[in-house]
Amino acid sequence: MMKVQLRTLHKRRLAATVIFAVCALTGWQLLAQENPVAERLSVAELMNGLITPATNTIWGAYQLQSEAEWQAVANAAITVLAAGELLAQGHADSKRADWQTYNNQMLSAARAVLQAVADKDKEQLSAVGNDLLYPPCESCHQQFQN
Ligand code: HEC
Repeated sequence: MMKVQLRTLHKRRLAATVIFAVCALTGWQLLAQENPVAERLSVAELMNGLITPATNTIWGAYQLQSEAEWQAVANAAITVLAAGELLAQGHADSKRADWQTYNNQMLSAARAVLQAVADKDKEQLSAVGNDLLYPPCESCHQQFQN
């Protein structure tokens, strides 16, 4: 009597495990189907949607005073960093050495912006914007913008 009960219990447990595994697998497959890898943003979308508004904030930074104003500049630099990561691969010219060079120059410029914000250094911020952040835009466009 006892033996039979135990066996039934084991079978039930096994059945439950199998059902759970199947559900998990199907669920995962469904999820994978419903959430395909998002369509890649185009270079133009990244330029217009992220780079342009963010660099407008950085280049337009003037007489920063409140913590929030400085933070907005830091957030803009972070946006440039994020856009740069997206530009680094998956686009027509991403694998070209020059593309990588200009993109990396833009990324180090954004890092330098973060440093200037950390130091609350307005002169440095303005110098970084003009001398480091702007040139890679020009160079990359000259070579790759049709
Ligand atoms: C690594 C290369 C690269 C860098 C760096 C780069 N761009 Fe671009 N940008 C492009 C390319 C390529 C296009 C053309 C995209 C297209 O028309 O499909 C473009 C186009 C643009 C456009 C026009 C978008 C449109 O709708 O035609 C703007 C505005 C722009 N970039 C701003 C900037 C600014 C500002 C910077 C610097 C902070 C910058 N870009 C840095 C590659 C770059």
